[in-house]
Formats: sequence, structure tokens, C-alpha cells
Amino acid sequence: MRVGVLTGGGDCPGLNAVIRAMVRKGVQNHGFEFTGFRDGWRGPLEGLTRQLDIPAVRGILPRGGTILGSSRTNPLKAENGVRRVKENLAKYEVDALVAIGGEDTLGVAARLYDEYGVPCVGVPKTIDNDLSATDYTFGFDTAVNIATEAIDRLHTTAESHMRVLVVEVMGRHAGWIALHAGLAGGANVILLPEQRFDLDQVCGWVESRFQASYAPIVVVAEGAMPKDGDLVVKDADQLDSFGHVRLSGIGDWLAKEIEKRTGKEARTTVLGHIQRGGTPTAFDRWLATRFGLHAIDAVRDREFGTMVALRGTDIVRVPLTEATAKLKTVDPALYAEAGVFFG
Ligand code: F6P
Repeated sequence: MRVGVLTGGGDCPGLNAVIRAMVRKGVQNHGFEFTGFRDGWRGPLEGLTRQLDIPAVRGILPRGGTILGSSRTNPLKAENGVRRVKENLAKYEVDALVAIGGEDTLGVAARLYDEYGVPCVGVPKTIDNDLSATDYTFGFDTAVNIATEAIDRLHTTAESHMRVLVVEVMGRHAGWIALHAGLAGGANVILLPEQRFDLDQVCGWVESRFQASYAPIVVVAEGAMPKDGDLVVKDADQLDSFGHVRLSGIGDWLAKEIEKRTGKEARTTVLGHIQRGGTPTAFDRWLATRFGLHAIDAVRDREFGTMVALRGTDIVRVPLTEATAKLKTVDPALYAEAGVFFG
């Protein structure tokens, strides 16, 4: 059997660990051959391939990014996209395709399987940890660790200058990184996309922190929004297509508002793509490796239309359609727990 592999969407620490595990087990245990498709769905769409065998995956376990490259290309939106994908799979004699990706990449795999019979298996990835079918996605732990280390470092500058330091982390639709890194880093305010925040309340927390002779750290997810009336959007350009303040926007906006309202000096650090870069943590390597090992077994069993998922400590197979059906957002009760540390 020949297995095609692609990585789609934003890169994520652990992608190479999945690829390595699949190739190692696929070749050694099942006698499979592999074709790497480059740049996400653009690979099968345009016939862009890369050699994928045991020598090609040597030494890639600790490497961030993806040796296959990535893109957000959607073949379902391309002219004759499905036909071209099918032709290229036939041309390279690919019998099964493993798509490693987030909501969009897996959504394409689900439709290609359900509507057009393309034999796909999915592996979930996203630093955002917002896929409902799996307890965790790899990449998330690395992002949380990077953000936590940044918060630790910012505490010392905040204290030395008695400033407010606002840290903007990734998370457009779900605040998992903000919540976990905020708690682990001892933040005094954590703001998530799931719940609109009240600027007066945020400023109150900031002031009470100063009254206790500490300098506050405010962690804000990029998709967090103030409640209606607090945000004056002068330019429609400030909002993205979801109606959210654009990437790199909310942290700066918040620091300026806090400074204006409290009279305290405030600065912003936007962590951006640093959260997705570099070597994966041990947990992410472990999870990515297990996903790879189980995905190749799903291919062997010809259980197409499925995705591997973590449930507790078990790796299970779930329908691809379930994987993309619902966004996993932060439960209000979980967020309320963190409130003990605000202010
Ligand atoms: O989904 C992963 C993610 O890093 C999000 O946290 C972030 O909002 C988005 O991708 C950024 O996308 P891009 O790298 O295309 O700007």
C-alpha cells in the first residue's frame, strides 16, 4: 500500500514527530511506501510531492515546523479541485491519504471522504487546542510553555518599573492558551474570546494590584473583545472577517486604555508566531508520536473517514465529521476558577 501524507493550516510543533512515527511504523511493521505531498492540500491539487522514506524522517523528531510545508489551500474551492486531487492520487498510485491539520484541513478530508470517496484518515493538530473531538492537540503544550516563560520574564520588568504589562497570546476563537499560560504564569488578569470583558473591571483589578504593591500582568487572547460600548472602532479595518479585533490589535488597544484610565504606565508584548515556532515539548512529541502510530494503524485497517483522538490516556478513532463539527471553547466554570487570582 502507498500512503500519501500532507500537513495543512498553520504550522505547529509536533508535525514532524507525527510524520516520523507514521513512516517508521508504516515501513517497518506494515511494509507501506509513502509519498509526501507538499504544502497542505496544494500538494495533491497540483501534484507537488516530496520523497518520504526512513532516511527522509531521520532527525526530525525535535524539529518544529513541517518538512512537508503547509498552506491554507482548499481544493474544494479550486476549479475542478476534487477531480485534480483524485487524478494526482491516481498518478502517484496513492491508496490512502493522511491529512494532518486543524479544522479547515480536516474539514476538507471529511468532505472528500464522505462526498467523493477519497480514502482519508485525519490527525488533529492546532496550538489552539480547540478541536472538540480530542482532549488535547499537540502544539498546545509547547505554546503554553512558551507563553508561560514569557510571562515569567515579564514579571521582573513589570515589578522593576511598576508598570502594567499586557501579554497578547494566540487564540482567535478559544482562550485555552491564555487560560493555561495565565494560570501557570501567575497573571493578574486573563481575558478570553469566550467572554466579553468589562474595561472598568479590568482597570479595577489593575489598580488593586498596585495598591498591594505589585505590578500587574494582563494576559489577553488575540480574539478577546471588550463589551459593547467600550470599543470604539474608528476604522472597519480593525476588525477581521469574524468581527474580532485583528491580530496584534487587542493587546495594544488594551494597554492604551488602561494607561488612559488608571494613569499607570502600560506596555504590550505580542507573542505572535513565537508560540508556534521551534522544538516541541516532550508532551507534544509524545502525543504527536502516538497519533502517528495510531493513524497508520487506521490506514492498515482501512478505517477511512476517521481521525485519531486522545481520550484520557487512550488514542481512539472518531469519525472525521465529528472532529470538525464543534469548536471546543473554555467552559465558563473553568474560567471562573481563575478569577480567584484577578486583581
Ligand atoms: O490556529 C493556529 C493559529 O496560530 C491561531 O492561534 C492564530 O490565530 C492563527 O493561527 C494565525 O494564523 P496565521 O499564521 O495564518 O497568521
